[in-house]
Amino acid sequence: SPKPKSTYVCGACGARHPKWAGQCTDCGAWNTLSELMEGRSRGVQRAGGYAGLTEGTTVEALEDVSPEERQRIQSGIGELDRVLGGGIVIGSVVLLGGDPGIGKSTLLLQACAALAGSHPVLYVSGEESPQQIGLRARRLGLAGDGIRLLAETCVEVILAHAAKEAPRIMVVDSIQTLFTELVQSAPGSVSQVRESAAQLVRFAKQRDTVVFLVGHVTKDGALAGPRVLEHMVDTVLYFEGEQGGPFRMVRSIKNRFGAVNELGVFAMGDHGLREVKNPSAIFLSRHDQPVPGSLVMVTREGTRPLLVEVQALVDESPLANPRRVALGLDQNRLSMLLAVLHRHGGIGMFNQDVFVNVVGGVRIAETAADLPVIMAVLSSYRDRPLPLDLAVFGEVGLSGEVRPVPNGPDRLREAVKHGVRRAVVPKGNVPKEGVEGLEIVAVRTLAEALDAVA
Ligand code: TYD
Ligand code: MG
Repeated sequence: SPKPKSTYVCGACGARHPKWAGQCTDCGAWNTLSELMEGRSRGVQRAGGYAGLTEGTTVEALEDVSPEERQRIQSGIGELDRVLGGGIVIGSVVLLGGDPGIGKSTLLLQACAALAGSHPVLYVSGEESPQQIGLRARRLGLAGDGIRLLAETCVEVILAHAAKEAPRIMVVDSIQTLFTELVQSAPGSVSQVRESAAQLVRFAKQRDTVVFLVGHVTKDGALAGPRVLEHMVDTVLYFEGEQGGPFRMVRSIKNRFGAVNELGVFAMGDHGLREVKNPSAIFLSRHDQPVPGSLVMVTREGTRPLLVEVQALVDESPLANPRRVALGLDQNRLSMLLAVLHRHGGIGMFNQDVFVNVVGGVRIAETAADLPVIMAVLSSYRDRPLPLDLAVFGEVGLSGEVRPVPNGPDRLREAVKHGVRRAVVPKGNVPKEGVEGLEIVAVRTLAEALDAVA
């Protein structure tokens, strides 16, 4: 019989390669490839083809399948329910990734405590003893009534306990500490992490149990990161934000049951994570006086508009190749915008260093930041502040046109709520009836936008 084929998987990005190599050609990481033995695909090896496999599953007509809305459980933590798309879907598997120490265990223990009153909850830890979890619960001020604890790392043992306990919600913290007897390699290796997760996913689907998998983002190539699991689970959430600061953001990267890019915002305090119900307020550094280079933009994270401050610093450069630094934004996009500003605004920055930063550690992945970035850069370059009550958004094209972005009216309403009185936005984003309390300057080109604030 033919030898089972092996595949090499990158522990950093999850890419598969037919051959081993020192560097992953997908993400560029070094020494992250490890061998993954594929099990024999069932059936192929069997005499008689697939005939023996028809037991257990049935073919149905699509029209007969009732498109029942999946039932959801409210965790009671509003920002968590939000990133999940409006609550926890029963039977779903959620991967929660993030750097070590960012707050994954804290968030899930708080969620367990909130849920334990109404649902059976099992918290499995491969990292902490029940005593340590107890200490954490006390520090968080959680009663913890009803939470069942298990300190175990063997998947088969965990599933045997889980079958008896029959939890509705099970947390597994963390996937990198688990091992399954089915695979030989060490805990944390790509094969172990994937096979362990596969068994937990199967359990979730068969028992209609919600499974939260904690995955540490690893810098070390020897440990598999959560990315190798993204395709196996229903929902992928990642913690982001500066570790030093108090704010923690949880973003949905993938969600079979909700919008992606949805953002939940928390503040880490002495009693764990507290929801930030009005995140627009925290990302604005309220200046008393207008400051050159600072500008408020309205971005959209998932389904929610959010006001953030964009800051630019433009300074004469001593370097032959002046610096272009973008924090919270795409660096290439910044270079492109500077080219557009030169070509269509007639202002060059060849001998200037340009730094752009989004306040509060927010990462903006949408083009609505184009116009605000250009205007902030120009404001710093000219050392001329923009009005404090101004907000801006809009995409800028290579020919200097300003294009509308999704959900303009939503953004404008959010701006008014936070004291914005003037807005410079793409013409296509302005509602016919206007927005009460807001003076809107609708622009079609970069030149018009620059005129509006000159
Ligand atoms: P933790 O949830 O253990 O991180 P992870 O599971 O992602 O590795 O978070 C640990 C950090 O949070 C630690 O640095 C201490 C801090 N923390 C607080 O500031 N307040 C608290 O109430 C708790 C429980 C932790
Ligand atoms: Mg932890």
